[in-house]
Amino acid sequence: MSDWSPTSWQKKPASQQASYPSAQALDEVIHELSQLPPLVTSWEIEELKRQLAAAARGEAFLLQGGDCAENFSDCNAPIITNKLKILLQMSLVLIHGLEKRVIRVGRIAGQYAKPRSADTESRDGVTLPSYRGDLINGLAFNPGARTPDPVRLLRGYGRAAMTLNYIRSLSDCGFADLHHPENWDLAFMSHSTQERSYRRIVGDLSHSLRFMEILGGARNQELNRVQFFTSHEGLHLHYEQALTRRVPNRDGHYNLAAHLPWIGFRTAALEGAHVEYFSGIRNPVGVKVGAGMPGSYLQELVERLNPTDEAGKLVLIHRFGAAGVERGLPPLIDAVRRSGRQVLWVCDPMHGNTEATGSGYKTRRFGNILDELSRSFDIHEAQGSILGGVHFELTGDDVTECIGGARGLDEAGLERAYKTQVDPRLNYEQALEMAMAIVDKALNRPLREARR
Ligand code: PEP
Ligand code: CO
Repeated sequence: MSDWSPTSWQKKPASQQASYPSAQALDEVIHELSQLPPLVTSWEIEELKRQLAAAARGEAFLLQGGDCAENFSDCNAPIITNKLKILLQMSLVLIHGLEKRVIRVGRIAGQYAKPRSADTESRDGVTLPSYRGDLINGLAFNPGARTPDPVRLLRGYGRAAMTLNYIRSLSDCGFADLHHPENWDLAFMSHSTQERSYRRIVGDLSHSLRFMEILGGARNQELNRVQFFTSHEGLHLHYEQALTRRVPNRDGHYNLAAHLPWIGFRTAALEGAHVEYFSGIRNPVGVKVGAGMPGSYLQELVERLNPTDEAGKLVLIHRFGAAGVERGLPPLIDAVRRSGRQVLWVCDPMHGNTEATGSGYKTRRFGNILDELSRSFDIHEAQGSILGGVHFELTGDDVTECIGGARGLDEAGLERAYKTQVDPRLNYEQALEMAMAIVDKALNRPLREARR
């Protein structure tokens, strides 16, 4: 730790990094970025850490969700608002059902870089660098688009700032007022099979709110706004480094690009650059864990990322897949318990359940996602541990990327609105249904029909 600095990761092997044609052009951009104002503050980060500590104790629940990859072109009002709406709606369902505070964290305002399984992609005899997300290169299959361009880092910072600016305005009054949940209605909601259940929950909450305010004799101003935090995979280490700062009156360095950066499954090597970088920042830190990671590795990882065993500091996001979770998860829970360390366990039921259809769509089945989630709740309970949150890829839009859910979206239906450039997301209706299913599970109610 003593020789850690925001750049010390550069001495370690860094996987999944872009290869830029000009090191000097990259340096210039990194320098410029490092002079720009932060996107978030250390107060917010410390507040999130306090709330995550509560979730680890079972007193709150983390809802983390958003796109697999944000695109620069999706930085517009309807897409941002819809994402906020679905996350707010899901959080209402969870608050109502779990009777716990819900911590809302978006995969948003910075989720622009993606790990890829191959460095290059070939089509018709032409080989080009793989698309690594809008922060690095373009999706179009031509040399101009696919060559990594450091100026994209500045554009990404700009998009993140614009997104966050809008989210902050929406969260602060009016739109986010719990007295007016109708502001969160999605235009297509009235076609939804989930509508009736959702309306009942909102009616119930509004009634309780009025009741409390009549008793207290005043309108609760705190309920006029919501707290919303940001997260992204901390993959592009030059970008993260440039936004890593010291702040007055606090020790250490903060990553001020997001409240909760996380380490992806493919970049979690103990001796790698990502673990080195993340070991030195004061933010709460997520790590994706899953198949093939031994208990001894996890113990070492926990030690490296949270050496002082600080509460709310480390979020372990497991992603095994429905078929692998029974075998994979218990040894990891056991390893953490034996280490005596506190972590927040979160289930990502998306990334272990990806499959390709016969017609070539990358998809996920609602039934498998729910199955992994449901098994994870049971496994944690049986192990005397706590599942304190969920991590979804979702959108507030009416896309057709995942199969199943109450509307019974089938394989043939995928083509109607398949929009993702990377992984398939739950659409607004499937996402809301998932929130209701979490509540059913937590309350030991039978899971509803028609979820396959
Ligand atoms: C992701 O969250 O989009 C992702 C790539 O996940 P993982 O690192 O778990 O594979
Ligand atoms: Co993904």
